Amino acid sequence: MLAGAANPIENADLSEAAGRDGGNDHRLAFARDLTQCLAETPHIISPKYFYDEAGSLLFERICELPEYYVTRTELDLLQRDLPAMAQTIGPNAEVLEFGAGSLLKARLLLRALESPRRFIAMDISGAHLQAAAAQLQREFPTVEIIALEGDFNALDRLQGLPAIEPGSRRVGFFPGSTVGNLSPLEANRFLADSARLLAGGGLLIGVDLVKSPMVLHSAYNDAAGVTAAFNRNVLVRANRELDAGFDIDSFAHYAFYEPRLQRIEMHLICLRDQTVQIADRRFTLRAGESIHTENSRKYTVEGFRTLAASAGFTAKAVWCDPMQLFSLHWLASGVTGSEER
Ligand code: AVJ
Repeated sequence: MLAGAANPIENADLSEAAGRDGGNDHRLAFARDLTQCLAETPHIISPKYFYDEAGSLLFERICELPEYYVTRTELDLLQRDLPAMAQTIGPNAEVLEFGAGSLLKARLLLRALESPRRFIAMDISGAHLQAAAAQLQREFPTVEIIALEGDFNALDRLQGLPAIEPGSRRVGFFPGSTVGNLSPLEANRFLADSARLLAGGGLLIGVDLVKSPMVLHSAYNDAAGVTAAFNRNVLVRANRELDAGFDIDSFAHYAFYEPRLQRIEMHLICLRDQTVQIADRRFTLRAGESIHTENSRKYTVEGFRTLAASAGFTAKAVWCDPMQLFSLHWLASGVTGSEER
């Protein structure tokens, strides 16, 4: 699990910090990545660390915020156009959801599809997923529901994916515009890996669109401060899991739209000098320093179709809401040719 770390540090030290309450691979990976984040400038940590239990709940609250148009718009789009999407996707699908959360959207998709065979919910957080998958299995007794712990950032190293059943077609599902967390280069790699995984089938993917910077700004700076709490949760988690000792209240939530890179950037800005500790390493953060916690890339419809094509997909249908806030794309992976739709 430590293999492939860009900056490996001694396991023994980290095991101690991670072992404090029944330690696991997750905590070890978090300790490793946070150590690297603090050791390097600029400080950058993967947004996947937002999503512990508290963070997942905060994200669900974000989805209901009046300013956060993303989830609402995508759900409206699904409600309106799922029949057409299901028609395009075709029967006997074996759906693989990347970064599956509450499975609400999966429910809608499974209801719309003609005789779906199997649903594989892939997510980094195993426990949350097991329960959601069990509930889904009760609702869809004829569909085989599988929970698979995995990271969509490392599809090439994905383990435990069952072989595809004869007669079914693998269909990727990646709603929510989570692909926006990746840089275009990383997105290209993700798409190329998923095109191989989904050969003969395709990918239904949600992509947030470029729009008025004021609309984007409000979506990541909500009046109730939920996004700020979500952002700070990575530090709350570091204190709880790694006993890091961040002075949480001395970090300002700072989110802004960077038009040249077409992305929202989220940062935590340190407002008071402080020293934190991960395993046996101490780091000093100075007032004014930033921890860069997330990018959320926005695309034009054409820009995303070009990216998908460069990764080996054939960009087929695209569905947008009337205000052009959000898009859902059907990308065919015609690697085998004959089954391409
Ligand atoms: C889950 C990555 C799609 O980028 O909009 C919401 C996460 N961050 N508010 C996004 C998020 C701040 C969200 N994604």
